Amino acid sequence: MAEIDSKETERRRETAFFGRRKGHALRSHQNNLMQSFLPKLLADTTKASTDPSSLFEDTKQQIHIEIGFGGGEHLIARAQQNPDIGYIGCEAYVNGIAKLLNQIDVLKIENIRIYPGDALEFCKHLPSSSIDRLYILYPDPWPKVRQRKRRIISDENLGVFQNILKAGSELRFATDIDDYSAWTLAHIERAPALQWHPISSLDWCEPWQDWTRTRYEAKAIREGRVPAYFRFVRT
Ligand SMILES: C[S@@+](CC[C@H](N)C(=O)[O-])C[C@H]1O[C@@H](n2cnc3c(N)ncnc32)[C@H](O)[C@@H]1O
Repeated sequence: MAEIDSKETERRRETAFFGRRKGHALRSHQNNLMQSFLPKLLADTTKASTDPSSLFEDTKQQIHIEIGFGGGEHLIARAQQNPDIGYIGCEAYVNGIAKLLNQIDVLKIENIRIYPGDALEFCKHLPSSSIDRLYILYPDPWPKVRQRKRRIISDENLGVFQNILKAGSELRFATDIDDYSAWTLAHIERAPALQWHPISSLDWCEPWQDWTRTRYEAKAIREGRVPAYFRFVRT
């Protein structure tokens, strides 16, 4: 009984802020990458707290963060397209991290660093005005009313994001959940230093120019949901 209780406690702890941390067992090659490759790409919070660009070997023009990169499709595409930008991917799901590591290895990508855990913990370590762009693409929807406090868009978290973003930079956000769009716009309205400037009434319908479809978006579209895309400017 005690063992069941402690397993339940552990399960609840693991799902407190994000969904699953681990899915199917990693293959041996993925395990090797987690053991030997991940430590070389770790976004170390001590270094990042002084200067996030020091995580990269050569000088980077900008630093972008993607929170919850999932399978890494968007992060990989951006990093390949912009070798002069340093990308930091934060993800709590071990299988997603293993998948990204494999892609970085196969494609010989040098401008990605990884924070394998709660993105908020990482962001709280960063200096003010140190980040040039933040992506939050299809965050966990937490659709039930009692779950909404787990959403990554909250007054408190937006406070963290607006603190680390440079003036004029953007928080780019995508969701397929209507209620999450409305929720986010209501929170942005209250955030003193983040603003939405739609250029037309259909602004949210079109992805930004360098968009890459993620795995989650492909599934949402297959299932008949409509994506919404928002660019919030740090004033
Ligand atoms: C619905 S999935 C979307 C994944 C990906 N962005 C896509 O569009 O395919 C949300 C992802 O965010 C991750 N996530 C949620 N909260 C997180 C947090 N606080 N820190 C890091 N990752 C988080 C989850 O593990 C999950 O992989």
